[in-house]
Amino acid sequence: MSAITAQALPNIAFIKYWGNRDEKLRLPVNGSISMNLDGLFTRTTVSFQPSLPFDELVINGHDVAGPGLDRVSAILDLVRGMAKIEERAEVVSENNFPSGAGIASSASAFAALALAASKAAGLELSEREFSRLARRGSGSAARSVPAGFVEWQAGTSDEDSFAFSIAPPEHWALMDCIAVISAAHKKTGSTEGHALAGTSPLQAARVGDAPRRLDICRRAILERDFEALASVVELDSDMMHAVMMTSSPALHYWQSASLAVMQAARQWRGDGIPACYTVDAGANVHVICPEKEAKEIATRLRLIQGVTDVLTARVGGPAKFLEENLGD
Ligand code: DP6
Repeated sequence: MSAITAQALPNIAFIKYWGNRDEKLRLPVNGSISMNLDGLFTRTTVSFQPSLPFDELVINGHDVAGPGLDRVSAILDLVRGMAKIEERAEVVSENNFPSGAGIASSASAFAALALAASKAAGLELSEREFSRLARRGSGSAARSVPAGFVEWQAGTSDEDSFAFSIAPPEHWALMDCIAVISAAHKKTGSTEGHALAGTSPLQAARVGDAPRRLDICRRAILERDFEALASVVELDSDMMHAVMMTSSPALHYWQSASLAVMQAARQWRGDGIPACYTVDAGANVHVICPEKEAKEIATRLRLIQGVTDVLTARVGGPAKFLEENLGD
């Protein structure tokens, strides 16, 4: 069987996924909305080989074993089940993001794996099926399959919990200016965090209000209404962090520089510069703005103490197959 290479981009959530109603199937407690981040990518090559006794995983030139490999093998098992094959696979993956910058790679990684593994196994899946398969590896990966501005509907079961594009990349020239803030020590990862979400007394309120925030966010994107987008994006990020901070054990991801960036973004917006913040399960702050403001905002972000770097990304396209084979 031939080696297949696929590429996928990470995404930044405007309305966040935090908590599962089914951990194994990764069925989320609420829907989420994101934009893909152009220029940052994972490229993954998969080949099923009769001679291999076990699945093999190489990420950025390093052999990976243990839980990282198990998580990939679980997706390969789903693919083998669908394709009715037994062969083990070699998976070779590269991220172009600066290592140690704290940009989560699980979304782009599992989206690229879903495409490459299923095609390498001889399956012809639809976008919806790719999204569902990627979701099983990492929830946010479901959103890295379709193009541009994407919604992942919570759904009622494995069949209808998938993501779809609500607007193509060219619909709205937004940019993500990522203020990189180095965390002092390794924090609890998302998978562990999702399992704690239900321990916060605030989670029920966050989830109950999610349909309203999703409606506002979807409409703001469709109407290119930056003010409306900015308020709901900041509210949603703050609500997720309120849940994180009040779960047991409590999760505190913000560093003092994270707060400084958030305050600056609010201040800039008050001064008439369109910008808003959103923070995932880490210290980095994503500042979303119209493309024409990005240069000025990146310059200002670099001046904030504790910001070690600024990465910028336009709205990106879908996960796709590539001609070349990384293994060559
Ligand atoms: C805070 O998709 O990384 O970034 O399914 O366990 O891999 P797993 O979790 P993951 O969770 C993402 C959490 C978030 C919010 C979001 O991207 O929606």
